Amino acid sequence: MPTAVNLDGRLLPPAEARLPVQDRAVLMGDSVYEVLRTYGRRPFELDLHLARLWRSAALSGLEPPWNGERCAAEVLRTLAASLGGDLPDAEAAPWNSSERSLRVLMTRGGGEAAPEVAPAAVVIAEPLHGPPLRAYREGVKVVLVEASRRRADPAAKTGSRLSHVLAQRAARAAGAHEALFAEADGTVTEGTSSNLFAVRAGQLLTPPLEAGILEGVTRGVVLRLALAAGVPLEERPLAASDLASADELFLTSTSREILPVTGLGDARVGVGRPGPITLALHAAFRRLAEASV
Ligand code: PDD
Repeated sequence: MPTAVNLDGRLLPPAEARLPVQDRAVLMGDSVYEVLRTYGRRPFELDLHLARLWRSAALSGLEPPWNGERCAAEVLRTLAASLGGDLPDAEAAPWNSSERSLRVLMTRGGGEAAPEVAPAAVVIAEPLHGPPLRAYREGVKVVLVEASRRRADPAAKTGSRLSHVLAQRAARAAGAHEALFAEADGTVTEGTSSNLFAVRAGQLLTPPLEAGILEGVTRGVVLRLALAAGVPLEERPLAASDLASADELFLTSTSREILPVTGLGDARVGVGRPGPITLALHAAFRRLAEASV
């Protein structure tokens, strides 16, 4: 089966994997999570994702029900149970075929109101649905969405994501792939599920962690690749006007890798095609991912 669900160490048919309604994850999104992916059916940067999960838990004052070693073992067990049974997808980018997305979720349980409801640990392995190949060739459109109602701590990956859900819906309604958060101070920080990079005059620019963004695992890989390739790089806040005048823009995330952005609202980015630095970094990323198999 291409989808496997692990609830507290038990592999269950997806429809039978249920959380108690008094778990605070159900009641108020009181949970932390990670999403990682496979290459060659093996997890990519598992340790970095688990380290971030533990940081998110610490920021949320939540005690993970599993330790790191157990968590890694349960991820691998769930992944193994999910292999096989893939349906062909003619539009998929070839590097995503038969790969898995792995979601790890830790809840707080019932808390003081219902102490009998224990915190839960969940792993879901399912077919990875990355952007179609066409999106890499042509680039995608993004829109800016006001960030005023964002989650409290952008560094933690928590289950309270209504502001992201609403921004993503606004993007879809505008015919865009992703929404970027425009902050009250005029800067643009990140997407609803992605980090943001710009290229201006041959220099790669991305907001620093202090701007209030998630420390993307893919962002970290891209920064290392850029350094190795000698691409001039600066981590600095990006104003909306920086994006409008950028030669190239791209998004990074686990399922997207490096995705060119060629439309910003109704305006074209650069010449309206994926740019040379974006393409070179994606080629380097592809080589790294293939070497990890
Ligand atoms: N989202 N910024 C935000 C707000 C995110 O939610 C994510 C990831 C990223 C990119 O991080 P990474 O490179 O580690 O995937 C940046 C995941 C994929 C999700 O929620 O589905």
